[in-house]
Amino acid sequence: MRATNMDSAGTLSPFNSPVVTLERLFDSPDIEIFAKLDLLQLSGSTKERTAGSLIESFMESGQLQPGGMVIESTSGNLGIALSRQCVVRGIKFVAVVDENANKSALDIMRAYGAAVELVVNQPDGNKLAARRQRVQQLLAQNPGAVTTNQYGSPDNPKAHYSSTMPEIVDALDGKVDMLFVATSTTGTILGCQKYIREHGLNTKLVAVDALGSVLFGGESGNRRLPGLGAGIVPELALQAEPDHVFRIREIDMVRGCRMLAQREGILAGASTGAIVSAMSQMLPEIPAGSRVAFLVHDSGVPYLHSVYDDDWVRETLGEEPEADGTANLVDQQVR
Ligand SMILES: Cc1ncc(COP(=O)(O)O)c(C=O)c1O
Repeated sequence: MRATNMDSAGTLSPFNSPVVTLERLFDSPDIEIFAKLDLLQLSGSTKERTAGSLIESFMESGQLQPGGMVIESTSGNLGIALSRQCVVRGIKFVAVVDENANKSALDIMRAYGAAVELVVNQPDGNKLAARRQRVQQLLAQNPGAVTTNQYGSPDNPKAHYSSTMPEIVDALDGKVDMLFVATSTTGTILGCQKYIREHGLNTKLVAVDALGSVLFGGESGNRRLPGLGAGIVPELALQAEPDHVFRIREIDMVRGCRMLAQREGILAGASTGAIVSAMSQMLPEIPAGSRVAFLVHDSGVPYLHSVYDDDWVRETLGEEPEADGTANLVDQQVR
């Protein structure tokens, strides 16, 4: 499959995702707000770009060829994106997951033909170590198979240096004063940072992280919503130097998501809700005339039974969801 609007980055970015102007989200007539709709990527998230770049570089180096195998410990958006990217390159994909994995994500991977390898009953309870060990075993049993390293590979930020940021700059005629990006491996923000620096742009970068994530000096805590945040500082994060960092509570991710859905008709996932929350907090400080962009990292459909479910919010977060709680977004953030 090859899209007719494919850019010169070729298979890295089958969709140059649309950038839309938002006029209903905030009451801020002097500030222009733009959303880049990566929820429209074929695998449903920004990780489509990351997965494409990781696999492409293995193929370019000859380490991976059609008929080859990728083995990765992942049960989230990267796993779904790798499943799809492997399909279009004729490569087998094995996802190593544990029993905490989201069932619908595993169903999607299987639908793309991926093999899902469940690691169960770790005697010491260390799921991450058990998954990593299983990946090593599978690599040993399958000569020629490779594993991508999204937490440390330069091919992760490269995806965003070569597609995400140039697409935003192109869509906004080079005038982007501020860009909000959610962070997990920090690949997305790092690629944008490199592009901004190398091209001498004045764009300020805002990292939006989860409260409870250890990125940017954060303190480890309980996190239930996937997409953003990290439990261990990934190698890539050491190079990330955002101009601002926000740490957002899960209830405010929920409120941000609901605001975006009910004011702009964009049904997005938790990390985008966090961005909406961070933007609402920062808005009073943003100079009039500014052009502010953000990424809609993934769709809200996989979050219907969490973010968009009032009972889940009450039972799990112990708070009232408040479908459109703009007022609460501003004063309850930890910055
Ligand atoms: C839902 C979601 N949120 C946030 C991000 C940013 O993550 P990272 O820092 O790993 O690039 C992504 C990346 O694809 C994503 O899919």
